Amino acid sequence: MAGSGLWFSLLLAAAFAGRAVALWPWPQSIRTSNWFYTISPHSFQFKYHASSAAQPGCSVLDEAFQRYRGVLFGSEVWPGPARTGKQPMSEKTSLIVLVVTPGCEELPSLESVENYTLTVSDEQCFLLSATVWGALRGLETFSQLVWRSPEGTLFINKTEIEDFPRFPHRGLLLDTSRHYLPLPSILDTLDVMAYNKFNVFHWHLVDDPSFPYESFSFPELSRKGSYDPATHIYTAQDVKEVIEYARLRGIRVLAEFDTPGHTLSWGPGVSGLLTPCYSGSQPSGTFGPVNPILNSTYEFMSSFFLEVSSVFPDFYLHLGGDEVDFTCWKSNPDIQAFMKKKGFGDDFKQLESYYIQTLLNIVSALGKGYVVWQEVFDNKVKVRPDTIIQVWREELPVNYLKEMALITSAGFRALLSAPWYLNRITYGQDWKVYYLVDPLEFEGSAEQKALVIGGEACMWGEYVDTTNLVPRLWPRAGAVAERLWSNKGVTDLDFAFKRLSHFRCELLRRGVQAQPLSVGYCEQEFEQT
Ligand SMILES: *[C@@H]1O[C@H](CO)[C@@H](O)[C@H](O)[C@H]1NC(C)=O
Ligand SMILES: *[C@@H]1O[C@H](CO)[C@@H](O)[C@H](O)[C@H]1NC(C)=O
Ligand SMILES: *[C@@H]1O[C@H](CO)[C@@H](O)[C@H](O)[C@H]1NC(C)=O
Repeated sequence: MAGSGLWFSLLLAAAFAGRAVALWPWPQSIRTSNWFYTISPHSFQFKYHASSAAQPGCSVLDEAFQRYRGVLFGSEVWPGPARTGKQPMSEKTSLIVLVVTPGCEELPSLESVENYTLTVSDEQCFLLSATVWGALRGLETFSQLVWRSPEGTLFINKTEIEDFPRFPHRGLLLDTSRHYLPLPSILDTLDVMAYNKFNVFHWHLVDDPSFPYESFSFPELSRKGSYDPATHIYTAQDVKEVIEYARLRGIRVLAEFDTPGHTLSWGPGVSGLLTPCYSGSQPSGTFGPVNPILNSTYEFMSSFFLEVSSVFPDFYLHLGGDEVDFTCWKSNPDIQAFMKKKGFGDDFKQLESYYIQTLLNIVSALGKGYVVWQEVFDNKVKVRPDTIIQVWREELPVNYLKEMALITSAGFRALLSAPWYLNRITYGQDWKVYYLVDPLEFEGSAEQKALVIGGEACMWGEYVDTTNLVPRLWPRAGAVAERLWSNKGVTDLDFAFKRLSHFRCELLRRGVQAQPLSVGYCEQEFEQT
Protein backbone atom coordinates (compact mmCIF):
# COMPACT_ATOMS: atom_id res chain seq x y z
CA MET A 1 0.00 0.00 0.00
CA ALA A 2 2.90 2.31 0.60
CA GLY A 3 3.60 2.25 -3.13
CA SER A 4 0.91 4.40 -4.65
CA GLY A 5 0.23 6.35 -1.45
CA LEU A 6 3.80 7.44 -1.22
CA TRP A 7 3.78 8.30 -4.88
CA PHE A 8 0.83 10.62 -4.37
CA SER A 9 2.47 12.14 -1.34
CA LEU A 10 5.68 12.90 -3.16
CA LEU A 11 3.99 14.21 -6.23
CA LEU A 12 1.53 16.47 -4.51
CA ALA A 13 3.03 17.33 -1.16
CA ALA A 14 4.90 20.18 -2.74
CA ALA A 15 1.81 21.49 -4.45
CA PHE A 16 -0.22 21.53 -1.25
CA ALA A 17 2.42 22.15 1.34
CA GLY A 18 1.14 24.39 4.05
CA ARG A 19 -2.49 23.54 3.47
CA ALA A 20 -3.58 23.22 7.09
CA VAL A 21 -6.48 21.15 8.21
CA ALA A 22 -9.42 23.50 8.30
CA LEU A 23 -12.17 22.14 10.48
CA TRP A 24 -14.94 24.29 11.92
CA PRO A 25 -15.67 23.94 14.78
CA TRP A 26 -12.34 22.53 15.93
CA PRO A 27 -12.56 19.00 17.38
CA GLN A 28 -11.62 18.08 20.94
CA SER A 29 -8.74 15.91 19.86
CA ILE A 30 -7.16 15.39 16.46
CA ARG A 31 -4.08 13.74 14.95
CA THR A 32 -3.37 14.32 11.30
CA SER A 33 -0.57 13.30 9.03
CA ASN A 34 0.88 14.21 5.67
CA TRP A 35 -0.12 10.81 4.44
CA PHE A 36 -3.21 11.04 2.31
CA TYR A 37 -5.61 9.09 0.13
CA THR A 38 -7.83 9.85 -2.82
CA ILE A 39 -11.61 9.62 -2.92
CA SER A 40 -13.51 9.04 -6.12
CA PRO A 41 -17.14 10.02 -6.62
CA HIS A 42 -17.51 6.93 -8.78
CA SER A 43 -16.62 4.42 -6.14
CA PHE A 44 -17.08 6.09 -2.78
CA GLN A 45 -19.88 4.86 -0.51
CA PHE A 46 -21.19 5.45 2.98
CA LYS A 47 -21.85 2.09 4.59
CA TYR A 48 -23.37 0.74 7.78
CA HIS A 49 -21.06 -1.56 9.73
CA ALA A 50 -22.51 -5.05 9.96
CA SER A 51 -22.79 -4.81 13.74
CA SER A 52 -24.15 -1.26 13.83
CA ALA A 53 -27.44 -0.84 15.71
CA ALA A 54 -28.55 1.46 12.88
CA GLN A 55 -28.92 -0.31 9.53
CA PRO A 56 -30.25 0.64 6.08
CA GLY A 57 -33.71 2.10 6.57
CA CYS A 58 -32.49 4.33 9.40
CA SER A 59 -34.06 7.62 8.30
CA VAL A 60 -31.50 9.87 9.98
CA LEU A 61 -28.46 8.16 8.52
CA ASP A 62 -29.88 7.11 5.13
CA GLU A 63 -30.70 10.73 4.45
CA ALA A 64 -27.44 12.01 5.90
CA PHE A 65 -25.51 9.68 3.56
CA GLN A 66 -27.46 11.16 0.64
CA ARG A 67 -26.81 14.73 1.78
CA TYR A 68 -23.11 14.26 2.35
CA ARG A 69 -22.76 12.53 -1.01
CA GLY A 70 -24.18 15.76 -2.44
CA VAL A 71 -21.92 17.95 -0.32
CA LEU A 72 -18.82 16.01 -1.39
CA PHE A 73 -19.54 15.25 -5.01
CA GLY A 74 -22.34 17.58 -6.09
CA SER A 75 -25.90 16.69 -6.92
CA GLU A 76 -24.95 14.87 -10.10
CA VAL A 77 -25.95 11.20 -10.01
CA TRP A 78 -22.75 9.19 -10.03
CA PRO A 79 -22.79 5.64 -11.31
CA GLY A 80 -22.54 3.00 -8.62
CA PRO A 81 -19.16 1.84 -7.44
CA ALA A 82 -17.03 0.20 -10.11
CA ARG A 83 -17.41 -3.54 -9.63
CA THR A 84 -14.50 -4.64 -11.75
CA GLY A 85 -10.86 -3.86 -11.47
CA LYS A 86 -8.92 -3.28 -8.29
CA GLN A 87 -9.01 0.11 -6.62
CA PRO A 88 -5.60 1.65 -6.16
CA MET A 89 -4.51 1.02 -2.59
CA SER A 90 -4.36 4.71 -1.88
CA GLU A 91 -8.00 5.18 -2.63
CA LYS A 92 -10.64 5.20 0.09
CA THR A 93 -13.83 3.70 -1.23
CA SER A 94 -16.08 3.90 1.82
CA LEU A 95 -16.78 5.39 5.20
CA ILE A 96 -18.03 2.65 7.51
CA VAL A 97 -20.41 3.87 10.19
CA LEU A 98 -21.08 2.04 13.44
CA VAL A 99 -23.75 3.35 15.79
CA VAL A 100 -23.98 1.56 19.13
CA THR A 101 -27.58 2.26 20.11
CA PRO A 102 -30.55 2.50 17.75
CA GLY A 103 -32.84 5.55 17.85
CA CYS A 104 -33.26 6.49 14.19
CA GLU A 105 -36.87 7.52 14.65
CA GLU A 106 -36.34 9.45 17.86
CA LEU A 107 -35.98 13.15 18.40
CA PRO A 108 -32.77 14.74 19.58
CA SER A 109 -33.01 16.13 23.11
CA LEU A 110 -30.98 18.16 25.58
CA GLU A 111 -29.61 14.84 26.86
CA SER A 112 -28.53 13.49 23.47
CA VAL A 113 -24.94 12.24 23.30
CA GLU A 114 -23.06 13.65 20.32
CA ASN A 115 -19.63 12.07 20.84
CA TYR A 116 -17.97 10.35 17.92
CA THR A 117 -14.64 8.91 16.85
CA LEU A 118 -13.47 9.22 13.25
CA THR A 119 -10.50 7.33 11.86
CA VAL A 120 -9.04 7.63 8.38
CA SER A 121 -6.23 5.10 8.18
CA ASP A 122 -4.55 2.70 5.78
CA GLU A 123 -7.14 0.10 6.75
CA GLN A 124 -10.34 2.08 6.45
CA CYS A 125 -12.43 5.19 7.09
CA PHE A 126 -14.41 4.43 10.21
CA LEU A 127 -16.94 6.46 12.16
CA LEU A 128 -18.00 5.25 15.59
CA SER A 129 -20.68 6.82 17.73
CA ALA A 130 -22.98 5.86 20.56
CA THR A 131 -25.90 7.56 18.81
CA VAL A 132 -27.10 8.63 15.37
CA TRP A 133 -26.66 12.25 16.54
CA GLY A 134 -22.96 11.69 17.12
CA ALA A 135 -22.75 10.01 13.73
CA LEU A 136 -24.24 13.15 12.12
CA ARG A 137 -21.56 15.32 13.75
CA GLY A 138 -18.89 12.88 12.56
CA LEU A 139 -20.20 12.89 9.00
CA GLU A 140 -19.95 16.67 8.94
CA THR A 141 -16.37 16.48 10.17
CA PHE A 142 -15.57 13.85 7.56
CA SER A 143 -16.95 16.12 4.84
CA GLN A 144 -14.73 18.97 6.03
CA LEU A 145 -11.61 16.78 6.00
CA VAL A 146 -11.91 16.23 2.27
CA TRP A 147 -9.89 18.66 0.18
CA ARG A 148 -9.57 19.27 -3.53
CA SER A 149 -6.76 19.79 -5.98
CA PRO A 150 -7.24 22.58 -8.53
CA GLU A 151 -8.13 19.84 -11.05
CA GLY A 152 -10.94 18.70 -8.78
CA THR A 153 -9.39 15.48 -7.44
CA LEU A 154 -10.53 14.75 -3.89
CA PHE A 155 -8.15 13.83 -1.09
CA ILE A 156 -8.33 12.99 2.58
CA ASN A 157 -5.38 12.77 4.96
CA LYS A 158 -4.73 10.04 7.44
CA THR A 159 -6.52 11.37 10.55
CA GLU A 160 -7.78 10.36 13.96
CA ILE A 161 -10.42 12.45 15.70
CA GLU A 162 -12.16 12.04 19.02
CA ASP A 163 -14.81 14.64 19.46
CA PHE A 164 -17.69 15.73 21.67
CA PRO A 165 -19.40 19.05 22.44
CA ARG A 166 -18.40 21.26 25.33
CA PHE A 167 -22.04 22.32 25.87
CA PRO A 168 -25.21 20.36 25.11
CA HIS A 169 -27.35 23.38 24.07
CA ARG A 170 -25.92 25.23 21.05
CA GLY A 171 -28.68 27.36 19.62
CA LEU A 172 -29.54 29.87 16.96
CA LEU A 173 -32.57 32.12 17.30
CA LEU A 174 -34.53 33.32 14.28
CA ASP A 175 -37.30 35.89 14.62
CA THR A 176 -40.19 35.34 12.21
CA SER A 177 -42.40 38.14 13.53
CA ARG A 178 -40.58 41.39 12.66
CA HIS A 179 -40.16 39.95 9.21
CA TYR A 180 -41.69 36.78 7.89
CA LEU A 181 -39.06 34.29 6.78
CA PRO A 182 -40.30 31.97 4.02
CA LEU A 183 -40.02 28.26 4.75
CA PRO A 184 -36.99 27.70 2.46
CA SER A 185 -35.06 30.37 4.41
CA ILE A 186 -35.64 28.42 7.60
CA LEU A 187 -34.77 25.06 6.06
CA ASP A 188 -31.60 26.45 4.46
CA THR A 189 -30.60 27.90 7.83
CA LEU A 190 -31.02 24.45 9.41
CA ASP A 191 -28.60 23.03 6.83
CA VAL A 192 -25.92 25.57 7.65
CA MET A 193 -26.56 25.13 11.38
CA ALA A 194 -25.72 21.45 10.94
CA TYR A 195 -22.49 22.38 9.11
CA ASN A 196 -21.62 24.37 12.27
CA LYS A 197 -22.77 21.63 14.67
CA PHE A 198 -25.50 23.85 16.14
CA ASN A 199 -28.22 21.67 17.63
CA VAL A 200 -31.09 23.94 18.72
CA PHE A 201 -33.27 26.08 16.47
CA HIS A 202 -34.90 28.62 18.79
CA TRP A 203 -37.93 29.72 16.78
CA HIS A 204 -39.17 33.09 18.02
CA LEU A 205 -42.39 32.60 16.10
CA VAL A 206 -44.55 35.54 17.09
CA ASP A 207 -44.15 38.99 18.62
CA ASP A 208 -45.75 42.45 18.50
CA PRO A 209 -45.55 43.00 14.72
CA SER A 210 -47.05 39.77 13.40
CA PHE A 211 -48.45 36.36 14.32
CA PRO A 212 -47.52 33.96 11.51
CA TYR A 213 -48.19 30.71 13.43
CA GLU A 214 -51.41 29.15 12.17
CA SER A 215 -53.22 27.74 15.18
CA PHE A 216 -55.91 25.14 14.61
CA SER A 217 -57.60 25.94 17.94
CA PHE A 218 -57.55 29.69 17.31
CA PRO A 219 -57.32 30.28 13.54
CA GLU A 220 -58.20 33.97 14.02
CA LEU A 221 -54.76 34.55 15.55
CA SER A 222 -52.91 34.30 12.24
CA ARG A 223 -55.92 35.31 10.14
CA LYS A 224 -55.95 38.68 11.88
CA GLY A 225 -52.45 38.88 13.30
CA SER A 226 -50.17 37.85 10.41
CA TYR A 227 -48.89 40.27 7.78
CA ASP A 228 -50.84 38.34 5.16
CA PRO A 229 -52.82 35.22 6.02
CA ALA A 230 -52.51 33.94 2.44
CA THR A 231 -48.73 34.09 2.19
CA HIS A 232 -47.15 35.04 5.51
CA ILE A 233 -48.08 32.19 7.80
CA TYR A 234 -46.65 28.84 8.89
CA THR A 235 -49.26 26.13 8.41
CA ALA A 236 -49.35 22.95 10.47
CA GLN A 237 -47.67 21.26 7.51
CA ASP A 238 -44.88 23.87 7.43
CA VAL A 239 -44.23 23.46 11.14
CA LYS A 240 -44.10 19.66 10.78
CA GLU A 241 -41.67 20.04 7.93
CA VAL A 242 -39.37 22.30 9.94
CA ILE A 243 -39.39 19.87 12.88
CA GLU A 244 -38.61 16.83 10.72
CA TYR A 245 -35.98 18.64 8.64
CA ALA A 246 -34.32 19.75 11.87
CA ARG A 247 -34.57 16.27 13.42
CA LEU A 248 -32.81 14.70 10.45
CA ARG A 249 -29.92 17.09 11.13
CA GLY A 250 -29.86 16.44 14.88
CA ILE A 251 -31.42 19.81 15.64
CA ARG A 252 -34.13 20.43 18.22
CA VAL A 253 -36.86 22.99 17.60
CA LEU A 254 -37.44 25.18 20.65
CA ALA A 255 -40.63 27.14 19.96
CA GLU A 256 -41.11 30.46 21.70
CA PHE A 257 -44.48 32.05 22.40
CA ASP A 258 -43.49 35.12 24.34
CA THR A 259 -46.04 36.56 26.85
CA PRO A 260 -47.29 38.70 28.58
CA GLY A 261 -45.38 41.45 26.72
CA HIS A 262 -44.56 41.37 22.99
CA THR A 263 -48.09 40.24 22.23
CA LEU A 264 -49.75 43.08 20.27
CA SER A 265 -50.28 40.81 17.25
CA TRP A 266 -52.32 38.38 19.40
CA GLY A 267 -54.92 41.07 20.15
CA PRO A 268 -56.98 41.17 16.97
CA GLY A 269 -57.50 37.39 17.02
CA VAL A 270 -58.59 36.96 20.67
CA SER A 271 -60.90 39.60 21.98
CA GLY A 272 -60.32 40.59 25.60
CA LEU A 273 -56.83 39.04 25.75
CA LEU A 274 -54.86 42.28 25.89
CA THR A 275 -55.13 44.98 28.54
CA PRO A 276 -57.02 48.10 27.40
CA CYS A 277 -54.87 51.14 28.18
CA TYR A 278 -56.50 54.21 29.68
CA SER A 279 -55.95 57.86 29.12
CA GLY A 280 -57.34 59.48 32.26
CA SER A 281 -60.68 57.83 33.00
CA GLN A 282 -61.32 56.69 29.42
CA PRO A 283 -59.91 53.73 27.46
CA SER A 284 -57.46 55.23 24.98
CA GLY A 285 -58.18 52.66 22.31
CA THR A 286 -54.71 51.16 22.54
CA PHE A 287 -53.68 47.90 24.15
CA GLY A 288 -50.86 46.73 26.38
CA PRO A 289 -49.59 43.33 27.56
CA VAL A 290 -51.82 40.32 28.11
CA ASN A 291 -54.50 41.10 30.70
CA PRO A 292 -53.39 39.19 33.79
CA ILE A 293 -56.50 39.73 35.92
CA LEU A 294 -59.09 37.83 33.85
CA ASN A 295 -59.91 34.16 34.19
CA SER A 296 -60.59 34.12 30.47
CA THR A 297 -56.91 34.90 29.85
CA TYR A 298 -55.84 31.73 31.61
CA GLU A 299 -58.56 29.67 29.95
CA PHE A 300 -57.23 30.84 26.60
CA MET A 301 -53.62 30.15 27.56
CA SER A 302 -54.55 26.63 28.72
CA SER A 303 -56.12 25.77 25.37
CA PHE A 304 -53.46 27.51 23.32
CA PHE A 305 -50.53 25.88 25.09
CA LEU A 306 -52.28 22.51 25.03
CA GLU A 307 -52.12 22.81 21.24
CA VAL A 308 -48.57 24.16 21.18
CA SER A 309 -47.30 21.41 23.45
CA SER A 310 -48.60 18.76 21.10
CA VAL A 311 -47.41 20.48 17.91
CA PHE A 312 -43.85 20.97 19.17
CA PRO A 313 -42.52 17.65 20.46
CA ASP A 314 -39.41 18.94 22.24
CA PHE A 315 -39.63 18.63 26.02
CA TYR A 316 -38.97 22.37 26.32
CA LEU A 317 -41.05 25.35 25.27
CA HIS A 318 -39.77 28.91 25.47
CA LEU A 319 -42.27 31.09 27.31
CA GLY A 320 -40.56 34.46 26.89
CA GLY A 321 -41.37 36.77 29.79
CA ASP A 322 -39.09 39.65 28.77
CA GLU A 323 -39.57 43.41 28.66
CA VAL A 324 -43.03 43.79 30.14
CA ASP A 325 -44.02 47.45 29.92
CA PHE A 326 -46.08 48.40 32.99
CA THR A 327 -47.38 51.75 31.65
CA CYS A 328 -50.62 50.33 30.30
CA TRP A 329 -51.30 48.13 33.33
CA LYS A 330 -50.77 51.19 35.54
CA SER A 331 -53.31 53.21 33.58
CA ASN A 332 -56.11 50.65 33.84
CA PRO A 333 -58.52 51.08 36.81
CA ASP A 334 -59.57 47.39 36.85
CA ILE A 335 -55.96 46.39 37.16
CA GLN A 336 -55.42 48.95 39.91
CA ALA A 337 -58.36 47.47 41.82
CA PHE A 338 -57.00 43.94 41.36
CA MET A 339 -53.59 45.04 42.63
CA LYS A 340 -55.23 46.45 45.74
CA LYS A 341 -57.27 43.30 46.32
CA LYS A 342 -54.14 41.12 46.01
CA GLY A 343 -52.09 43.44 48.24
CA PHE A 344 -49.48 44.07 45.55
CA GLY A 345 -49.28 47.79 46.44
CA ASP A 346 -47.91 49.51 43.37
CA ASP A 347 -45.31 46.83 42.65
CA PHE A 348 -46.21 45.74 39.14
CA LYS A 349 -43.48 43.12 39.16
CA GLN A 350 -45.74 41.22 41.56
CA LEU A 351 -48.52 41.34 39.01
CA GLU A 352 -46.15 40.13 36.32
CA SER A 353 -45.06 37.30 38.62
CA TYR A 354 -48.68 36.42 39.28
CA TYR A 355 -49.27 36.04 35.55
CA ILE A 356 -46.07 34.13 34.83
CA GLN A 357 -46.51 31.77 37.75
CA THR A 358 -50.00 30.90 36.63
CA LEU A 359 -48.79 30.36 33.07
CA LEU A 360 -45.87 28.21 34.21
CA ASN A 361 -48.27 26.05 36.21
CA ILE A 362 -50.41 25.61 33.12
CA VAL A 363 -47.44 24.59 30.99
CA SER A 364 -46.00 22.33 33.70
CA ALA A 365 -49.32 20.54 33.93
CA LEU A 366 -49.00 19.79 30.21
CA GLY A 367 -45.82 17.86 30.96
CA LYS A 368 -43.43 20.36 29.41
CA GLY A 369 -40.26 21.97 30.65
CA TYR A 370 -39.59 25.60 29.94
CA VAL A 371 -37.02 28.21 29.09
CA VAL A 372 -37.65 31.86 29.99
CA TRP A 373 -35.81 35.14 29.49
CA GLN A 374 -33.86 36.47 32.44
CA GLU A 375 -36.48 39.01 33.63
CA VAL A 376 -38.51 36.15 35.03
CA PHE A 377 -35.59 35.40 37.35
CA ASP A 378 -34.74 39.07 37.95
CA ASN A 379 -38.32 39.76 39.02
CA LYS A 380 -38.22 36.84 41.44
CA VAL A 381 -41.02 34.85 39.90
CA LYS A 382 -41.32 31.51 41.62
CA VAL A 383 -40.34 28.94 38.98
CA ARG A 384 -39.78 25.20 38.98
CA PRO A 385 -36.22 24.20 39.91
CA ASP A 386 -35.64 22.70 36.45
CA THR A 387 -36.40 25.99 34.67
CA ILE A 388 -33.77 27.20 32.18
CA ILE A 389 -33.01 30.93 32.30
CA GLN A 390 -31.72 32.66 29.18
CA VAL A 391 -29.48 35.68 29.73
CA TRP A 392 -29.85 38.38 27.10
CA ARG A 393 -29.16 41.73 28.76
CA GLU A 394 -25.54 42.85 28.55
CA GLU A 395 -25.36 45.25 31.48
CA LEU A 396 -28.70 45.50 33.30
CA PRO A 397 -29.49 44.86 36.05
CA VAL A 398 -25.91 43.55 36.21
CA ASN A 399 -23.22 42.55 33.75
CA TYR A 400 -24.22 39.36 31.97
CA LEU A 401 -21.49 37.25 33.54
CA LYS A 402 -22.58 38.39 37.00
CA GLU A 403 -26.12 37.45 35.98
CA MET A 404 -24.89 33.95 35.02
CA ALA A 405 -23.33 33.71 38.50
CA LEU A 406 -26.57 34.81 40.20
CA ILE A 407 -28.76 32.41 38.24
CA THR A 408 -26.52 29.41 38.79
CA SER A 409 -25.98 30.20 42.46
CA ALA A 410 -29.76 30.08 42.81
CA GLY A 411 -29.49 26.55 41.35
CA PHE A 412 -31.02 27.24 37.94
CA ARG A 413 -29.62 26.19 34.58
CA ALA A 414 -28.50 29.05 32.38
CA LEU A 415 -28.13 29.82 28.68
CA LEU A 416 -26.03 32.72 27.44
CA SER A 417 -27.07 35.01 24.59
CA ALA A 418 -26.25 38.55 25.75
CA PRO A 419 -22.94 38.94 23.87
CA TRP A 420 -24.20 37.07 20.81
CA TYR A 421 -26.80 39.36 19.24
CA LEU A 422 -25.79 38.91 15.62
CA ASN A 423 -28.44 41.38 14.47
CA ARG A 424 -26.23 44.15 15.87
CA ILE A 425 -23.65 44.97 13.25
CA THR A 426 -20.57 47.14 13.34
CA TYR A 427 -17.72 47.83 10.94
CA GLY A 428 -14.95 45.23 11.02
CA GLN A 429 -14.48 41.71 12.28
CA ASP A 430 -17.11 41.55 14.99
CA TRP A 431 -16.95 37.74 14.93
CA LYS A 432 -13.81 38.06 17.04
CA VAL A 433 -15.78 39.69 19.84
CA TYR A 434 -18.28 36.82 19.82
CA TYR A 435 -15.46 34.32 19.61
CA LEU A 436 -13.59 35.57 22.67
CA VAL A 437 -16.59 35.31 25.01
CA ASP A 438 -16.46 32.41 27.42
CA PRO A 439 -19.79 31.49 29.03
CA LEU A 440 -18.04 30.16 32.14
CA GLU A 441 -15.91 33.22 32.78
CA PHE A 442 -17.76 34.22 35.93
CA GLU A 443 -16.93 33.70 39.56
CA GLY A 444 -18.63 30.60 40.79
CA SER A 445 -18.17 27.05 41.96
CA ALA A 446 -17.76 24.00 39.73
CA GLU A 447 -21.38 23.12 40.53
CA GLN A 448 -22.46 26.53 39.24
CA LYS A 449 -20.46 26.15 36.03
CA ALA A 450 -22.04 22.77 35.45
CA LEU A 451 -25.43 24.50 35.36
CA VAL A 452 -24.47 26.45 32.23
CA ILE A 453 -25.88 24.25 29.50
CA GLY A 454 -24.78 26.43 26.58
CA GLY A 455 -25.93 29.45 24.70
CA GLU A 456 -27.56 30.87 21.62
CA ALA A 457 -26.69 33.25 18.85
CA CYS A 458 -29.69 35.52 18.23
CA MET A 459 -30.76 37.08 14.94
CA TRP A 460 -33.57 39.48 15.76
CA GLY A 461 -35.53 40.52 12.72
CA GLU A 462 -36.02 44.30 12.79
CA TYR A 463 -33.58 44.82 9.91
CA VAL A 464 -33.37 41.27 8.59
CA ASP A 465 -35.52 39.40 6.14
CA THR A 466 -34.86 36.73 3.58
CA THR A 467 -32.76 39.13 1.43
CA ASN A 468 -29.97 39.60 3.97
CA LEU A 469 -30.40 36.78 6.49
CA VAL A 470 -27.76 34.45 5.06
CA PRO A 471 -24.77 36.81 4.77
CA ARG A 472 -25.58 38.36 8.13
CA LEU A 473 -25.68 34.96 9.80
CA TRP A 474 -22.74 33.26 8.16
CA PRO A 475 -19.98 32.92 8.98
CA ARG A 476 -20.50 35.22 12.02
CA ALA A 477 -22.70 32.72 13.85
CA GLY A 478 -19.89 30.22 13.36
CA ALA A 479 -17.90 32.05 16.03
CA VAL A 480 -20.59 31.17 18.56
CA ALA A 481 -20.88 27.63 17.23
CA GLU A 482 -17.19 26.96 17.82
CA ARG A 483 -17.24 28.58 21.26
CA LEU A 484 -20.04 26.24 22.29
CA TRP A 485 -18.60 23.08 20.73
CA SER A 486 -14.82 23.26 21.02
CA ASN A 487 -12.55 22.97 24.01
CA LYS A 488 -12.27 25.98 26.31
CA GLY A 489 -8.62 26.38 25.28
CA VAL A 490 -9.37 26.88 21.59
CA THR A 491 -9.18 30.68 21.55
CA ASP A 492 -6.32 31.61 19.21
CA LEU A 493 -7.66 34.30 16.87
CA ASP A 494 -5.14 33.74 14.06
CA PHE A 495 -5.81 30.02 14.00
CA ALA A 496 -9.55 30.71 14.06
CA PHE A 497 -9.27 33.33 11.32
CA LYS A 498 -7.54 30.90 8.97
CA ARG A 499 -10.03 28.16 9.57
CA LEU A 500 -13.10 30.41 9.52
CA SER A 501 -11.97 32.03 6.24
CA HIS A 502 -11.54 28.56 4.79
CA PHE A 503 -14.90 27.48 6.16
CA ARG A 504 -16.52 30.53 4.60
CA CYS A 505 -15.13 29.50 1.21
CA GLU A 506 -16.40 25.98 1.81
CA LEU A 507 -19.84 27.46 2.58
CA LEU A 508 -19.74 29.27 -0.78
CA ARG A 509 -18.84 26.00 -2.43
CA ARG A 510 -21.89 24.48 -0.75
CA GLY A 511 -24.07 27.26 -2.13
CA VAL A 512 -24.36 29.40 1.02
CA GLN A 513 -23.89 33.13 0.36
CA ALA A 514 -21.72 33.69 3.43
CA GLN A 515 -20.09 37.12 3.67
CA PRO A 516 -16.30 37.60 3.66
CA LEU A 517 -14.38 37.93 6.92
CA SER A 518 -11.86 40.35 5.54
CA VAL A 519 -9.77 41.22 2.47
CA GLY A 520 -8.86 38.23 0.28
CA TYR A 521 -10.35 35.68 -2.07
CA CYS A 522 -11.45 32.07 -2.23
CA GLU A 523 -9.11 29.83 -4.20
CA GLN A 524 -11.95 28.40 -6.17
CA GLU A 525 -14.28 30.83 -7.82
CA PHE A 526 -17.48 30.20 -5.95
CA GLU A 527 -18.20 33.82 -5.25
CA GLN A 528 -19.89 34.12 -8.64
CA THR A 529 -22.46 31.40 -7.99
C1 LIG B 1 -2.33 16.57 4.24
O1 LIG B 1 -1.30 16.11 3.42
C2 LIG B 1 -0.69 17.11 2.64
C3 LIG B 1 0.26 16.44 1.69
O2 LIG B 1 1.19 15.65 2.36
C4 LIG B 1 -0.02 18.12 3.56
O3 LIG B 1 0.57 19.15 2.79
C5 LIG B 1 -1.06 18.70 4.49
O4 LIG B 1 -0.45 19.56 5.42
C6 LIG B 1 -1.77 17.58 5.23
N1 LIG B 1 -2.85 18.13 5.98
C7 LIG B 1 -2.99 17.88 7.25
C8 LIG B 1 -4.17 18.46 7.89
O5 LIG B 1 -2.23 17.20 7.90
C1 LIG C 1 -18.73 11.83 25.69
O1 LIG C 1 -17.54 12.53 25.94
C2 LIG C 1 -17.46 13.12 27.21
C3 LIG C 1 -16.16 13.87 27.29
O2 LIG C 1 -15.07 13.01 27.10
C4 LIG C 1 -17.52 12.04 28.28
O3 LIG C 1 -17.52 12.64 29.55
C5 LIG C 1 -18.77 11.22 28.10
O4 LIG C 1 -18.77 10.14 29.00
C6 LIG C 1 -18.86 10.69 26.68
N1 LIG C 1 -20.13 10.04 26.53
C7 LIG C 1 -20.23 8.87 25.90
C8 LIG C 1 -21.58 8.26 25.87
O5 LIG C 1 -19.30 8.32 25.36
C1 LIG D 1 -62.07 33.38 38.46
O1 LIG D 1 -61.67 32.11 38.96
C2 LIG D 1 -61.56 32.08 40.36
C3 LIG D 1 -60.96 30.75 40.75
O2 LIG D 1 -61.50 29.71 39.97
C4 LIG D 1 -62.93 32.31 40.98
O3 LIG D 1 -62.82 32.31 42.37
C5 LIG D 1 -63.44 33.67 40.51
O4 LIG D 1 -64.76 33.88 40.97
C6 LIG D 1 -63.43 33.75 38.99
N1 LIG D 1 -63.73 35.10 38.61
C7 LIG D 1 -64.61 35.38 37.67
C8 LIG D 1 -64.81 36.84 37.38
O5 LIG D 1 -65.23 34.53 37.07
